Amino acid sequence: MALFEKKETAQGATPEAVLSALSKVMDPELGKDLVTLNMIRNVKVSGGEVELDLVLTTPACPMKNSIRASVEQAVRGVPGVSSVLVRLSSDVRPAKNPMEGRRPVEGVRNVVAVASGKGGVGKSTISANLAVALARSGARVGLLDADIYGPSVPTLFNMKGHRLTGDNGKIVPAQAHGLKIVSIGFLLEDDSPVIWRGPMLMKGLEQFLHGTKWGELDYLVIDLPPGTGDVQISLAQMTPVAGAVVVTTPQDLALIDVRKAVRMFEQVGVPILGVVENMSYFLCPHCASRSEIFGHGGARTACAEMGLRFLGEVPLQVELRVASDAGSPLVATSPDTLAAQAIAKAAEESAAALSLLNL
Ligand SMILES: Nc1ncnc2c1ncn2[C@@H]1O[C@H](COP(=O)(O)OP(=O)(O)OP(=O)(O)O)[C@@H](O)[C@H]1O
Ligand SMILES: [Mg+2]
Repeated sequence: MALFEKKETAQGATPEAVLSALSKVMDPELGKDLVTLNMIRNVKVSGGEVELDLVLTTPACPMKNSIRASVEQAVRGVPGVSSVLVRLSSDVRPAKNPMEGRRPVEGVRNVVAVASGKGGVGKSTISANLAVALARSGARVGLLDADIYGPSVPTLFNMKGHRLTGDNGKIVPAQAHGLKIVSIGFLLEDDSPVIWRGPMLMKGLEQFLHGTKWGELDYLVIDLPPGTGDVQISLAQMTPVAGAVVVTTPQDLALIDVRKAVRMFEQVGVPILGVVENMSYFLCPHCASRSEIFGHGGARTACAEMGLRFLGEVPLQVELRVASDAGSPLVATSPDTLAAQAIAKAAEESAAALSLLNL
């Protein structure tokens, strides 16, 4: 028997051992391990100290804290590791373009359409706040107001009277709350009716998409007019739309129209990211009690039936209407309100759905 048994001392950890441990950590949303997903980069090991980059597929990742915790735990479990530094960043993946003849918007990784089957369900309110929520998470975001019948973005961002400017024949977007913004309303005199017919409409939309200096964007959110008409179909034919967010209220009538909108997008090859139930319940400003004026939960059930992701429920909250009318998006000015939190959550869910599609 030896006097001294050579004890298995912790050998210095290696980058290979760290990667091997991380190849067992799954992304809960994307269903693959972090190494296969190329989310672990620049692993450096020095003695027992490990540092690495964790590169998420979106800065709006709803699971970012739990993924980070799993990474730290897995690396600490590698023999010889004494400390771990995880640097969090993101690299939004571009949408795929499965259909020929559709020209991507230069520099834009994902075009996201916000649509509804029925008018007045809160599409513009959700679009604007969703875009601001994505920008606040750290993404590069643009907002295009393509509602030729009733552009709301000038009001929602307190930009009534703003006029489009150009540079070398290209449209220069306005900027607010970290967004690049173009609205059809920037072309119109106040309250002038819009009489855009087919070819002119196509040309206008084409110019907003391909003739604007969007720069590098992770997401370009498009606020569409209600329903399933020319603008929706032209948009889908003009450029690859990464996905559509469908907004509805809980009434049966609105839900019937959701199905129509979903079918229309499917026909033109646009994936549905999911459905937001807006005005889901009324939050009393005095006693904070909740009333379900239009019924509640219909969108969740409809999503389950159609195999779609439910993106969340946004309460009817007076602060949201007041902030919208004042031109200051609620997710920026009062992010702690329930409505703002619900829209921020819907933004994260939409981003996660896109990450999954773009794998
Ligand atoms: N969750 C909410 N709580 C309170 N007010 C809301 C909510 N959602 C929308 N609103 C208000 O309802 C009105 C209609 O909303 P919005 O203009 O966003 O609807 P829309 O679907 O874009 O309409 P349209 O079909 O005309 O484009 C606005 O006054 C808006 O401020
Ligand atoms: Mg609108």
